[in-house]
Amino acid sequence: MPIPQEFIEELKSRTDIADVISSYVNLKKSGRNLMGLCPFHNEKSPSFSVSPENGFFHCFGCHAGGDVITFIRRIENLDYVEAVKFLAQRAGMTVPEEGKDNGMGRLRMRIFEANREAARFYHKQLYTPQGKKALEYLRSRGLTEKTIIHFGLGYSPSDRFELVNHLRSKGFTAAEMIQANLANESKKGNPYDRFSDRVMFPILDLRGNVIAFGGRIMSDIKPKYLNTSDTPAFNKSRSLFALQFAKNKANGQLILVEGYMDVIALHQAGIENAVATLGTALTQEQAILLKRYCDEIVICYDSDNAGQNAAARAISILRPTGLKIKVIAVPNGKDPDEFIRSNGDKGAAKFRMLIEDSGSDIEYRMKKLRDRYNIEVTEQRIDYVDEVCRIIAAIDSAVERDVYISQLAGETGVEKSAVKSQVDDYLHARRRDSKKQQQRTVRNEMSAKNDKINAEKFYNLRAAHAEEAIIALVINNPDAAADVFRRLQPEHFVTAFNRRVYEVLRKRAEAGNDISLADISGAFTADEMSEITSMLVARPREQDIHRAVEEYIAALEQERSRLSPEQMAQAGDAAIKEYLEKKRKQSKNRRN
Ligand code: CTP
Ligand code: MN
Repeated sequence: MPIPQEFIEELKSRTDIADVISSYVNLKKSGRNLMGLCPFHNEKSPSFSVSPENGFFHCFGCHAGGDVITFIRRIENLDYVEAVKFLAQRAGMTVPEEGKDNGMGRLRMRIFEANREAARFYHKQLYTPQGKKALEYLRSRGLTEKTIIHFGLGYSPSDRFELVNHLRSKGFTAAEMIQANLANESKKGNPYDRFSDRVMFPILDLRGNVIAFGGRIMSDIKPKYLNTSDTPAFNKSRSLFALQFAKNKANGQLILVEGYMDVIALHQAGIENAVATLGTALTQEQAILLKRYCDEIVICYDSDNAGQNAAARAISILRPTGLKIKVIAVPNGKDPDEFIRSNGDKGAAKFRMLIEDSGSDIEYRMKKLRDRYNIEVTEQRIDYVDEVCRIIAAIDSAVERDVYISQLAGETGVEKSAVKSQVDDYLHARRRDSKKQQQRTVRNEMSAKNDKINAEKFYNLRAAHAEEAIIALVINNPDAAADVFRRLQPEHFVTAFNRRVYEVLRKRAEAGNDISLADISGAFTADEMSEITSMLVARPREQDIHRAVEEYIAALEQERSRLSPEQMAQAGDAAIKEYLEKKRKQSKNRRN
């Protein structure tokens, strides 16, 4: 571990896991633990628990778990060293320099730096003769100087080497430019600018790092927008354009639009809680991200067919988060940018009125259906009622359901009780499905976990359980640990993953270090930490520690002697296989 032990100790003592997690999850006290909605998967009833006493979190639904550093790694999408830095900053500490020695983290830092330099370069271009037309283009689209600076807009020159040369002069290597996706690689292996003759929109993360760019062509050439592909520093399905501004202006509500220009026009008009996806459909990760900053989403997509289909998809992604959803239809086929501009000074006020008048997603969908049916015709009326009942059945709140049932009954002249029983039918069917779905998810989750983290567990259940009990026991009972470490060698472990965990614990203990979850966090991936946390969660603290130790060691010995010589060899092989697998992954990461 590159970060000194004393530093981690100090960080641990200054960091309260409940406090950290509370800024992401609404936690309520439940016995000795705190419970809330898991931020790592969509759920409606809380299965995410935090144990301040043991310093870990665990989700009984998706099995994510670990110490506070693992939590930050997962939720902020950081590696170990970055997560430590993140928490250190929060605790008012500075990580000693050696901590820098992390390949992936360093590459990511370099990409951020290259991107920042590129953003500066692109922006400056606007004020050169070659960039003049881009500046004029932005002005012609109604943007003020202030907006151009606020969003850091720029221009990428048409010559394919200007940025590359500039970055080289600033000390960036060709590999770094290519990794950042600022440059492409020619057949001969030389870098050349990825963006050429485009208006540039930098994309920032929540901490102000430039993570990517969108570039718009100023003519009819396709593609209209070219975006940064995913890099080690950028994952488009987890980012939202302008969220760094919008989150501070949310006040409970965020507006979701389709385009960069829509966001910028709204912000310029004073509606600063708008964000956009990055040229892709809304993802579940983005929905969860949105939920962190608001209670209500206003979807305002283009009124063309593509936009309306995208809105329908976004609704189905957002519904399970429990966010309140509103849908705006901008009149006359305009997008928000065009709407704001065509209304001049009144643009913002009129847009706010659209929000005021907008219906819930349910009303929106009812209206869409209404356009398709002629409810004067009995058969069509029946079909219409049936379709709407299906939609109503998807609503969680009984009160809310009742409102729409009444509304539908009134609108169609069908008895309210008849509508209600139709909704109830769908409701029951849905509950059955969701139960099945849940079971499926849990099963998939389990088997995926087994494959990924401890593939051998499935074939060595009893041994693996004994191993896990021992691991839990030494972590939970530092006093009894010395005895266990003396009697039980890593070689006695049957499954490779548990053996590695045990080895890490034992080495640390022998060096006189603590062995809490946070202490070993640096030696494992976030998924592995979840697996280890599950071992602790699954079992209560032992009453009679010595008896338990005897039992587990005996069980493990029995299991081990049951293994055939081939299996024994295999158990050893697994360690080698795991090592090779890790190497392979490392070199793959380097290539990407
Ligand atoms: N987009 C993209 N790649 C394309 C086209 C679109 O990534 N080839 C993304 C961009 O983020 C764009 C959004 O989808 O902002 C919406 O696309 P579109 O409606 O076509 O563009 P507008 O945002 O209206 O852009 P403009 O007003 O500049 O024409
Ligand atoms: Mn537009």
